[in-house]
Amino acid sequence: MQTVLSGIRPTGNLHLGNYFGAVKNFIKMQEDNNCFFFIADYHSLTTHPKPDSLQENVKKVLSEYLACGLDPEKSTIYIQSDLPQVAELYLLLNMNAYVGELERTTTFKEKVRKQPENINAGLLTYAVLMAADILIHNAHKVPVGKDQEQHLEMTKKFARRFNQIYEVEYFNIPEAYNFGSELVKVPGLDGTGKMGKSEGNAINLIDEPELIRKKVMKAVTDAGPTSQNQPKPEPIANLFSLMKLVSSKETIEFFDEKYNSCQIRYGDMKKQLAEDIIIFTTPIRERILNIYNDNDYLKKVAQTGKEKAFASGGKTIKEVREIIGFKTF
Ligand code: TYM
Repeated sequence: MQTVLSGIRPTGNLHLGNYFGAVKNFIKMQEDNNCFFFIADYHSLTTHPKPDSLQENVKKVLSEYLACGLDPEKSTIYIQSDLPQVAELYLLLNMNAYVGELERTTTFKEKVRKQPENINAGLLTYAVLMAADILIHNAHKVPVGKDQEQHLEMTKKFARRFNQIYEVEYFNIPEAYNFGSELVKVPGLDGTGKMGKSEGNAINLIDEPELIRKKVMKAVTDAGPTSQNQPKPEPIANLFSLMKLVSSKETIEFFDEKYNSCQIRYGDMKKQLAEDIIIFTTPIRERILNIYNDNDYLKKVAQTGKEKAFASGGKTIKEVREIIGFKTF
């Protein structure tokens, strides 16, 4: 049986990008793998949340994970900070990570541009902590969206380097885990780029129908096609991509036909898209609200996850310490 690991930063609600890029696949994976799914609250400290919002966001994401179908009986669902062994492995891996390679990471360079007032060392070593998350359970497979590909490559590099330095075959070299041939990228509503928590272009699973309608109606479009069968520009292609996730084949064909014959009314298309998203998210939203209000259940899930993660992480850190040469007198 293979070990699969993935995580989500608790910096906001889960959105359609998280669902169709990652969570949907987790549900299938948990059927025949040894799965670890965790909430990356240490990682979220790179943006300095307040204590209340940190705790609140962890609770939200835990409820959302469960409402989407992650099963604590089949998988280990835990909170990163409940596994302090990961912090020790992070420290140890940092000794073999070079500042030059960390500075060249795309996400680090992006953060330097986006948050110049807070370029903390945690941002620089973000990829090392992510490697520690993966290697602490010696995972074989890591499901990620396109945006996390480079981080996974760095994990492979750190795993190989550790094995080389200590002349062992200890860490598995983890591979990306994807169901289709390509990594999924769910677009946002702002015409370009991916749907993201910090981009302000997301539809969250918890959003009320009215809010979904409002967000979708504001999605960027253009003046409409002027010749038959013309290629779709990015904002329009993005609307169709979102439709492919939630609408029926007939609905997509209907609007495709309207576009190709220059008769499309984007207002109608958006109305339909909003209603189809609402049909998709409503049962999930209802489950989130039920689970969110059940503190005893959430506490039990977090406690069970912590114990299972602790057993696995504890074993790894004990073995890593021995390999490095720490001994008790
Ligand atoms: P995060 O929290 O940004 O995203 C969680 C997961 O959702 C995927 N995702 C998307 N997929 C497709 N289209 C989108 N628009 C979209 N937006 C998000 C992400 O690829 C990811 O799979 N650094 C990670 C969290 C993390 C982690 C790990 C992941 C920490 N340690 C170890 C895997 C293994 C992150 O910020 O994901």
